[in-house]
Amino acid sequence: MCGIVAYSGKKAACPILIEGLKRLEYRGYDSSGVSLLNGSLQTFKKKGKVKDLENILPKEELTATLGIGHTRWATHGEPNDVNAHPHLSGNGRLALVHNGIIENYASIKEALIKRGHTFSSETDTEVLVHYIEELQSEGKLALEEAVRQALLHVEGAYAIVVIDSQEPNKLVGAKKQSPLVVGIAEDSFYFASDATPIISHTNKVVYLKDGEIAVAELGKELVIRQLSNIEQKLDVQELSLDIQQIEKGGYEHYMLKEIDEQPKTIADGMRGRLNGKEGWTRLDGLEEYSNRISSVKRIIIAACGTSWHSGLIGEYLIEEFARIPVEVEYASELRYRNPIIGKDDLVIAISQSGETADTLAAVNLAKEKGALVYGLVNAVGSTIARASHCGSYLHAGPEIGVASTKAFTSQVTLLAIMALNLGMKRGTLSNTTYHRLISALEQIPSQLSKVLEQKEQIKYIAGEIKSATNALYLGRGFNFPVALEGALKLKEISYIHAEGYPAAEMKHGPIALIDIYMPVFVIATKGGSYDKIVSNIQEVKARKGKIIAIITEGDETIKDLADYYIEIPLTEEALTPLLSVVPLQLLSYYIAVMRGCNVDQPRNLAKSVTVE
Ligand code: F6R
Repeated sequence: MCGIVAYSGKKAACPILIEGLKRLEYRGYDSSGVSLLNGSLQTFKKKGKVKDLENILPKEELTATLGIGHTRWATHGEPNDVNAHPHLSGNGRLALVHNGIIENYASIKEALIKRGHTFSSETDTEVLVHYIEELQSEGKLALEEAVRQALLHVEGAYAIVVIDSQEPNKLVGAKKQSPLVVGIAEDSFYFASDATPIISHTNKVVYLKDGEIAVAELGKELVIRQLSNIEQKLDVQELSLDIQQIEKGGYEHYMLKEIDEQPKTIADGMRGRLNGKEGWTRLDGLEEYSNRISSVKRIIIAACGTSWHSGLIGEYLIEEFARIPVEVEYASELRYRNPIIGKDDLVIAISQSGETADTLAAVNLAKEKGALVYGLVNAVGSTIARASHCGSYLHAGPEIGVASTKAFTSQVTLLAIMALNLGMKRGTLSNTTYHRLISALEQIPSQLSKVLEQKEQIKYIAGEIKSATNALYLGRGFNFPVALEGALKLKEISYIHAEGYPAAEMKHGPIALIDIYMPVFVIATKGGSYDKIVSNIQEVKARKGKIIAIITEGDETIKDLADYYIEIPLTEEALTPLLSVVPLQLLSYYIAVMRGCNVDQPRNLAKSVTVE
């Protein structure tokens, strides 16, 4: 977790760092800080948001042209001014920002204390900067060499940037298991946890690899070395990310903007990957490894949170259309339980950020065990995308709101294309069904636009149930994972306790909770289990629960039964999640806004979970 940013160039560093930190705030927002080098180090740190940090900055212009910044999501030590980064060495010469966890910090700290070091914070990061300082002064080492030697003894995950008041033109960055990007412009260098703070300044970037140290010294070429000290060839990439894409575009919250973008993001995900008229689907990742994929015996989907929910829909889609057995695993469980995975397995890793530590670990484990790994990732150039053998990008554009919305529908879209493609190749899907489903998928963006037109009604319903303290979400078949996702959206941004269940499971426990105070969201669209879900609705009504139903357009039966309903256009049953989830996203959004919650940055959460 945490976001880091650094700048060295000819301009004033502070505004560049603050702007960068604001872009990275989705990674953590419990405290932030900057260190600026202007002869000596000036450090400002503050608990709270980046705007709280701005409030304590001196009014007079800060002229330093080199500095580092950090926005924190606490792992060691509570969020407060002292634990905020940057952390300084004991002699005040070095400042360091860190994203990750130094696992062996306690033993290093103990040894340093014995040698006379004192610490002001409870963080693992302060230990690291003291350690670098000690090596530097003992060996009279250049900053990068002291950093290298220290990191040889560090266990855990890190992306760091360090500056030294006695080497005033130099930024030294290093990474292992946490992301770090270097931006290269004509007369300046940038470091950041992702490219968003960099792209308004330069589109030339280098993604550091695990175990690499980068030395950016003004007037010289960027130098990258491995921890073993071997110099690496520079792999400079040109980014095509558009800064407009990551700004709010007139919306009050990123989450609403991202919900509204879904007709476009789904269409973007399909572009060049299917064609209804000509009747084909194509995913480059599948083509690249077609021989191997044609012989897989099993698919394992590994993911976390919302991405895990899309994985569950993927299981239903792939088993239905391609008849390959699928297991969906929480990445955090898979990696710790010595799973049976082998060369006949295809592991699909799903991740919006491409940085989730548990999903990345599952990818590495699957590779070690000989499986083929397919990444379904949104963030271009992210660690999981690079670690996978092959894969497909979602092309949903940057998702900034902490609650995942457009990434979910893009993941489901890609999984549907994958299931259809595999089904067609394996002959498990008739030509007619294949063509019918491709055409139905192509209709989804325009159908979704119709769902989004119902915001006023959805807002009204949100107002009616905003004071609930608990909520139940029910769905069957393809819509069971949508019930889980609806519940997750509500709890994470509005702090209302919510649970998702397969509708038939309600009788086995949750029905005991139902009374007049319990809103029950039921995804009750037309399909194979329609009659059964109507019965489930009756069961809830008999216990006086309040029904909010997501129904197929024109369904008069459920309109009569439900307290509130939202209609979605008719589509193929397997594709309904792409439409049915959106009213649930909007309901959560409006309820959270009405309850005064911070929708884009809910408490205790972060967008990119790079800790285990
Ligand atoms: C929920 C949410 C999280 C993420 C999860 C995985 O709205 O955003 O549950 O889905 O942390 O993140 P990624 O997809 O980046 O691996």
